[in-house]
Amino acid sequence: MKLLLLGSGGREHAMAWKIAQSPKVEKLFIAPGNGGTENAGENVNISVTDFPAIASFVKENNINMVVVGPEVPLVEGISDYFKADAALKNVCVIGPSKEGAQLEGSKDFAKGFMNRHNIPTARYKSFTKETYNDACTFIESLEAPYVLKADGLAAGKGVLIIPDLETAKKELKEMFDGMFGNASATVVIEEFLSGIECSVFVLTDGDSYKILPVAKDYKRIGEGDKGLNTGGMGSVSPVPFADEVFMKKVEERIVIPTIEGLKKENIDYKGFIFLGLINVKNEPMVIEYNVRMGDPETEAVMLRIKSDLVDLFEGVAAHDLSKRVLEIDPRTAVTVMLVSGGYPEDYEKGKVMTGLDKVEGSILFHAGTKINDKGQLVTNGGRVISISSYGNNKAEALAQSFKNAQVIDYDKKYFRRDIGFDL
Ligand code: AMP
Ligand code: GLY
Repeated sequence: MKLLLLGSGGREHAMAWKIAQSPKVEKLFIAPGNGGTENAGENVNISVTDFPAIASFVKENNINMVVVGPEVPLVEGISDYFKADAALKNVCVIGPSKEGAQLEGSKDFAKGFMNRHNIPTARYKSFTKETYNDACTFIESLEAPYVLKADGLAAGKGVLIIPDLETAKKELKEMFDGMFGNASATVVIEEFLSGIECSVFVLTDGDSYKILPVAKDYKRIGEGDKGLNTGGMGSVSPVPFADEVFMKKVEERIVIPTIEGLKKENIDYKGFIFLGLINVKNEPMVIEYNVRMGDPETEAVMLRIKSDLVDLFEGVAAHDLSKRVLEIDPRTAVTVMLVSGGYPEDYEKGKVMTGLDKVEGSILFHAGTKINDKGQLVTNGGRVISISSYGNNKAEALAQSFKNAQVIDYDKKYFRRDIGFDL
């Protein structure tokens, strides 16, 4: 089989690494890919949102399956685009329809969906500029801190958590006035939930599903979860508090009602569902849905999937996922992200990287690297490279990644040394 994987981050390198291990794969292309995905397949210089160019490439190369890494092409309707083309409608796209992608593309849609299907989530209301006064009345009815969410995609930055009422009202006004462009024309205001978070990944063919290994990510730049939000500084799988009892609640109260809800609403959904959950006194509640895998959770989760991932994707395509086997590695897997000094604010690119050939006992997934015109591997993003390791426990796996984090070097390298501290 010939596959095309869309995306260019550490998540896509980890997926490409796993896909390339499948004996079913004759050829893997990654568009646009990065300096690391080249080792798993062939990079193709096409943007993930250039649907006509993707479609031509798929036709010319007789691609059988397209795996979509990031959310933007899904929210823009890549699955529907393929279905509308007679020559492409039999190419399986691993990723939901545009309507299904609204679970991530519109927080107002996602909250409405959860309410319609009795899926546990924070109490909320949605508002627009015209209903600003009602929004203020609603905020006053809640307790601090106040959670304001831009309805649309805002590159992971659209959620504000504000400690006091007056600032919340002021920021809300700014959101309506375009703080996140059109994404904050509608704002979801919700109750603040207190607890520890985890990421649950589900693969579905629209009827049956497999629950993939659970992970926890670390979003803040600073140790102790302090400072600005980033695209993710590391992750750990499994998550000790997501034990059998907790996961049974997740399955019964969230996974099954979500898939049944999609069916009831006639929403075509073949792909990943990412449940951003919070554990409130041992009760799982949904913070958000995403319609793709998480980054950097994938860089740990892929290590724990023992089965052939392409066989599972074939199960999605053939609508017989229930007959496929998901075997999970019992070991712990972690990933530690090396980033550029200054990230997530201003940082420099083009720093020459050394030591990658001396890394032992870990797997490297590139996030932001490239080969410069002198043939050297250089940094090319805020998040540079993730170091994933196995261990018999969290401490062992982390020790391995931290050891290799010292082996790789470049000017102004930074990483968090406390990944997993709260588990
Ligand atoms: P989201 O973009 O929806 O994942 O939100 C970003 C982050 O804001 C989440 O990972 C949570 O840490 C936090 N958050 C979102 N909604 C809530 C809530 N209702 N209560 C507490 N924290 C929240
Ligand atoms: N790690 C969170 C995300 O991918 O959105």
